[in-house]
Amino acid sequence: MTNVLNHLAIIMDGNGRWAKQRGLPRQAGHQKGAEVVIDIAKAAKELGVKFLTLYAFSTENWKRPIEEVNALMNLLRQYLQKDFKELKENDIRIVFIGERNMLAADICERMTALEDETAANKSATLLVALSYGARPEIVRAAQELAQKVKSGEMRLEQIDEKTFSTALDTKDVPDPDVLIRTGGEQRLSNFLLWQLAYAEFFFTDTLWPDFTKEELKTIVEKYQTRERRYGKV
Ligand code: IPE
Ligand code: IPE
Ligand code: MG
Repeated sequence: MTNVLNHLAIIMDGNGRWAKQRGLPRQAGHQKGAEVVIDIAKAAKELGVKFLTLYAFSTENWKRPIEEVNALMNLLRQYLQKDFKELKENDIRIVFIGERNMLAADICERMTALEDETAANKSATLLVALSYGARPEIVRAAQELAQKVKSGEMRLEQIDEKTFSTALDTKDVPDPDVLIRTGGEQRLSNFLLWQLAYAEFFFTDTLWPDFTKEELKTIVEKYQTRERRYGKV
């Protein structure tokens, strides 16, 4: 039996090195990387993926030089205004996860508008992890549940894996089946720590701007033959 790929998560890494290899500023790598996003989102949908989560900017990425952060935010503005439209037309619902209060007001407004405009789209869901860190997400969930217990809205015994999951940014979304990290590093960098408990991991040396739908297809085929045991024999 082949495994079904319902939810794919990707750490899009390697933009800076892609630019460096070409003697270009890091921003050029981010620009090229952003172009790949739309292609991969469409390819994932064609492969039957229902949920795609892309790690676009981590809470730790705020510590990069201000010029790079600004360039990334401007790229995001451009995407929110124009490029995500194509996904909208492809019947893809767009959802953002992460620390929204860290982002500029105009960006937040566009994010909320795009979520509203695509809320009824049914073919697939794209989750964009922006200013996202898994530990802050888990802390927020714990605080939300503690508050509910404190106010009497919930009993302590009602806190279980299910209720905890629904307090995370990924509420209503099944856990990822597959995690891909491009760019050669083999670490999670604070991405979906709770949700990836039983995901199958794939690491590729390909830098994100060079990642293609053909490579995605190869990884999906490999995943389909992996044995997922979930602790059983
Ligand atoms: C990933 O590429 C994009 C972001 C983290 C925003 P990097 O910018 O981390 O590229 P490398 O890892 O330096 O090559
Ligand atoms: C992870 O990449 C974050 C994103 C791809 C958005 P980083 O390049 O920030 O991760 P580290 O610093 O190498 O762990
Ligand atoms: Mg990196």
